[in-house]
Amino acid sequence: NQLDNNCIAIFGASGDLTRRKLIPALYHLYITEQLSASFSILGISRTEYSDDAYRARIKDALIESEKLENSEQLDEFCAHIHYQSLNTADQDSYAVLKGRLTELSQQYDTAGNVIYYLSTPPSLYGVIPECLAAHDLHSEKDGWKRLIVEKPFGYDKKSAVALDKQLHRFFREDQIYRIDHYLGKETVQNLLVFRFSNGLFEPLWNRNYIDHVEITSAESIGVEERGGYYDGAGAMRDMFQNHLLQVLGMVAMEPPARINSDAIRNETFKVFQSLHPLDETRLKEDLVLGQYTASDIRGEHMVGYREEHGVDENSRTETYVALKLSIDNWRWNGVPFYVRTGKRLPTRVTEVVIHFKKTPHPVFGQNTPDNKLVIRIQPDEGILMKFGLKKPGAGFESQEVSMEFRYDSLDGTEVLTAYERLLLDSIKGDPTLFARSDAVLACWDFVQPILDITQDNPTLYGYACGTWGPKEADELLTREGRQWRFPCKNLTDADY
Ligand code: BG6
Repeated sequence: NQLDNNCIAIFGASGDLTRRKLIPALYHLYITEQLSASFSILGISRTEYSDDAYRARIKDALIESEKLENSEQLDEFCAHIHYQSLNTADQDSYAVLKGRLTELSQQYDTAGNVIYYLSTPPSLYGVIPECLAAHDLHSEKDGWKRLIVEKPFGYDKKSAVALDKQLHRFFREDQIYRIDHYLGKETVQNLLVFRFSNGLFEPLWNRNYIDHVEITSAESIGVEERGGYYDGAGAMRDMFQNHLLQVLGMVAMEPPARINSDAIRNETFKVFQSLHPLDETRLKEDLVLGQYTASDIRGEHMVGYREEHGVDENSRTETYVALKLSIDNWRWNGVPFYVRTGKRLPTRVTEVVIHFKKTPHPVFGQNTPDNKLVIRIQPDEGILMKFGLKKPGAGFESQEVSMEFRYDSLDGTEVLTAYERLLLDSIKGDPTLFARSDAVLACWDFVQPILDITQDNPTLYGYACGTWGPKEADELLTREGRQWRFPCKNLTDADY
């Protein structure tokens, strides 16, 4: 195992993300022997805990969430965990943190290598780096230092620029790892390999052969306990500005000259720069915003968005976005991309559908099925190709058939979860799957005018929980003779 020994210092250690995602990911990396030989985890937050009390808390959480039995291995993992209570906004108290990190560095022989993971509210993203720097804790005089921040990277373009400026005061761009967990998904990374390791698809991957592209990220859950945050964000900021645009970047990018972080991220960045800006006139036509309303599904009552805890009863925040966009470059000129995301839709599914153009001459009649390629990001991960075949029997009619690949057919392959992959890459010092500053700002450049135009009184359509969003979103496609695929949990099933 070639990894440098290191300490992962998690700010926000008593929070939900740490308990639900980070610690389980680190535990799996540990039991599969992917972490360095000597590593420590330092949980940091305001609450007072002794090391033992924090360990016990983490252990219980792991037993519950991972359905584990108490075991020696679990105790061995937990022995690497330490805890420091800290008022994160108080610069002076970082002297204690410094002492603690020095101690751990000696104990675990980490040579001073530290990853600072900010699993905190974004309001602390500026404060913590400044406090760290005040105590020279960012300095690489002894060991490397890396900073991980989670989306949202800013609330709008202006705050995103300010955040970058603040981070760059203390950390170089190559020390900053911005997590967009969609990039950590195996199936999103596969877009790159699927496209550029096959001679079969890439020649067709352009305006000459592709009619349009759909990207859907649907969730069946509502806002759950996060109404307070969500009501100030909405689907555009929560999902579209980051996750969906990153997926679009992988679908639309040019082939990178080599597989390294700069080459790959340069190409996705160019896609974001080439997004055709949407003005008020285009938005009226090409954007549909929705908000879920109460409904009864299979005997279960689902409350409307405005009745959710933490949500304003007159809220005009969107829980659904559908948008038609285009990319101004040689490859994609004239090819519409239809992108949608929403909460409380019929099922949880994320997929990309490439619709190929019809044959130049419809020799088997107008009803000949189109060729489609469905790239399923989650769940039932896989790839599905739809094409026409002669309908057995007399005559020459064509009928649609499928070929599919499913990830679960890859026997014995353990797929890393997004957080496992991203944590591992940050320990390795590989930023390929992290959002780069210029790319984040380019995404904001596209989204900001949309937010400006829609902020005061957006046209917002209601849709009942458990439906596929407002009918206006269907019209976005039907008016052009196209239609969404309404996917089911199972890759091969869809309703039309
Ligand atoms: C998060 C959003 O970034 O992504 C959530 O804040 C959303 O609102 C989640 O539910 C979706 O992630 P996934 O991996 O379940 O598709």
